[in-house]
This record gives sequence, structure tokens and C-alpha cells, in this order.
Amino acid sequence: MKMFSANLDNLRKLYINQLRTLLSTEQQITEALPKMIDKSTDVQLKQAFQSHLQETREQVTRLEQILNKAAGEASPIKCKVTAALVSAAEDMVKDAADDDVRDAALISAGQRVEHYEIACYGTVRHWAQILGLTSDAELLDKTIREEGHADHLLTQISNRVNEQAKVA
Ligand SMILES: [Fe+2]
Repeated sequence: MKMFSANLDNLRKLYINQLRTLLSTEQQITEALPKMIDKSTDVQLKQAFQSHLQETREQVTRLEQILNKAAGEASPIKCKVTAALVSAAEDMVKDAADDDVRDAALISAGQRVEHYEIACYGTVRHWAQILGLTSDAELLDKTIREEGHADHLLTQISNRVNEQAKVA
């Protein structure tokens, strides 16, 4: 049971709380992506994860920038959802017994994370707009566009990889 309440009694506090949780999400993804790059066989998939790792590092910096300005510090609050997504992905990848099937599993895992992130970022972007934090909203929008691009790229790669996995 939680010993201390975060006492979120206004939208601004909830906003900062969720930005700190997103910081944890991005940090966990920064740790997970090198393992995903390592496990992927398809060259295009490897490259897609590589470039998203670069983007993810920038997304961490962007969140730190917003949090430092808003709260004077940028400390993460552990995101339990991301931890569960990463753990489920590890199980799925571990059980794959063929390179194409493993790639298909990695794409699926990556897209689940992207969709989760897009949902979370969409919410905090709207809160930033409501709170009159225009420059925050613009920075968050940049991240949402990167996540969307990564998701679309994975869909493209899956069109080929899933067919290969079917005949594996
Ligand atoms: Fe991200």
C-alpha cells in the first residue's frame, strides 16, 4: 500500500505527476530498446529501433526540460504500465523460436508501447494547452509526432515481416 499520497488537488499537479511518470516510461524504453535492437534480425527493423532510440533520448531531454522549468527538478515516478509492457514483451520474444516470428513479436511489442505513449502524451498535451503552457504543448506535440512516425514505420515493416513469419 502507498504510504504517502501525492495530494494531487489541481490539474497542474496532476500534469507534473504524469510528466514525471512519462519520464520513467522513456527511461525504461531507453533501456529496453538496445535489447530489442540486439534481438531483431530484419535490417530495416533494427534501423527503425536504432533511430527510435535516438529519438527516445531526445524525448527524455524534452521532458526534463519541461519538468525543470515547471517544478525545478526532473525526477521520475515509476511507470508500472511500461514495466508490465516491457516484461510481457520479454516473455513474447523469449518464446519465439524463429527469426521472423521473433521479429513479428518485437514489432508487436514496439507498437504496443508506441500506442500507450501516444495516449499518455495526447493527454498531457491537452492539459498543457488548458493550463496555458503553449511551449510545453509544442514540445509534447513534437514527441507525439515522433511516436506516430515510429508506429507507422513499424506497420510498414510488419507488412513484410508478418508474411515471412507466416511461412516460417
Ligand atoms: Fe517515446
